[in-house]
Amino acid sequence: MSSLLFPRWTNTVSRLTAALLLSLPAVAIGGLMLYVRSPLANAQSHPVEQPFEFDHRHHTGDEAIDCRYCHHMVEESSTAGIPSTTLCVSCHAQVWNKSPYLAQLREKFFTDQPIPWVRVHNLPEYVYFNHSIHVNKGVGCVTCHGRVDQMAAIYQKEPLTMAWCLECHRNPGPNLRPVEFMTSMTWQPEKDPGLRAAQIQDLTAKYDVHARTSCDTCHR
Ligand code: HEC
Ligand code: HEC
Ligand code: HEC
Ligand code: HEC
Ligand code: HEC
Repeated sequence: MSSLLFPRWTNTVSRLTAALLLSLPAVAIGGLMLYVRSPLANAQSHPVEQPFEFDHRHHTGDEAIDCRYCHHMVEESSTAGIPSTTLCVSCHAQVWNKSPYLAQLREKFFTDQPIPWVRVHNLPEYVYFNHSIHVNKGVGCVTCHGRVDQMAAIYQKEPLTMAWCLECHRNPGPNLRPVEFMTSMTWQPEKDPGLRAAQIQDLTAKYDVHARTSCDTCHR
């Protein structure tokens, strides 16, 4: 019975695995540690090819559609949300409704299938992140995502490493803006040093912003 469940070759396999595990940890862990810190692993700056025609440059910008129209959960929820096919069609039933660029969209809509977007930003499972607290306390989209309105295909602008999160969390003040400009791609802070110091102080007080560096802020 046992020989049926565990044929002889499994012994060899487990011995080999054990040997590998015993001899390789230093190399493997070293390699992994380098890998997780490399831009390769966090895909920074590489535009991610999407299986589907969609261009933020034609849909966003301060004079165009607000980010929250499509990423409508960003103020209330941990995730920003990706728009449904129905939302696209709510405009494209009128705008460019005959365009060949939208053939794919029409097909998905009429066959009731979701669009298989490829994720660009993806933190490890063990990290807790929440959009709503950031945007409601005055951290704008552009601060973490860059000039999305100029990206043909979205790429990860910032490293999203723990060091990057902590750099802001130690002293968030200089990264704050009035929440009315949360989605603005072009808002600029005060230039004059005196006015700038007052602006940082005002925004920090107004949104009751604190440094947050304890481990359980992000690892729960
Ligand atoms: C008309 C709808 C629409 C608008 C407006 C819009 N987006 Fe998007 N956004 C999408 C869609 C669809 C995707 C998924 C496809 C992709 O990654 O390009 C996406 C993806 C993203 C991603 C990458 C998500 C991931 O996978 O990590 C970011 C970041 C983003 N949008 C930020 C913004 C910001 C910032 C604005 C405002 C300046 C904005 N978007 C405006 C529809 C929109
Ligand atoms: C609020 C209205 C609105 C929504 C919602 C919207 N679009 Fe558009 N879309 C437009 C307008 C306006 C244009 C034309 C832009 C131009 O002329 O530069 C356009 C252009 C396009 C084009 C052709 C030009 C290009 O950008 O390559 C595609 C493809 C497209 N949209 C896909 C989508 C998809 C997919 C969604 C859903 C994620 C979507 N749109 C949601 C208004 C909208
Ligand atoms: C403090 C930095 C920060 C700010 C501010 C921020 N984001 Fe993000 N965003 C992230 C991170 C980090 C992720 C990846 C989250 C994950 O993997 O769980 C992300 C993911 C996304 C995604 C992918 C879907 C999701 O929710 O995971 C979209 C879309 C997005 N952000 C849009 C926006 C928009 C729109 C704004 C402004 C209204 C915004 N973000 C503001 C850091 C930020
Ligand atoms: C540009 C500034 C900035 C960056 C970058 C940033 N944060 Fe934050 N974060 C803030 C601010 C401001 C707050 C609110 C602090 C307060 O007053 O409680 C905050 C709060 C949080 C909270 C508290 C949520 C809660 O419900 O208590 C979490 C979790 C968090 N951030 C995770 C992250 C992670 C993970 C990253 C990196 C992927 C990150 N943040 C990057 C500015 C930033
Ligand atoms: C502001 C958010 C934030 C805080 C606070 C934070 N971390 Fe992290 N941590 C992250 C993010 C994001 C990652 C994943 C990206 C990376 O590995 O840099 C991470 C990864 C890690 C890892 C994985 C191993 C590694 O280095 O790649 C460990 C271990 C860790 N954190 C421990 C801690 C400890 C201990 C503390 C408290 C001293 C802490 N973290 C505080 C955001 C945070």
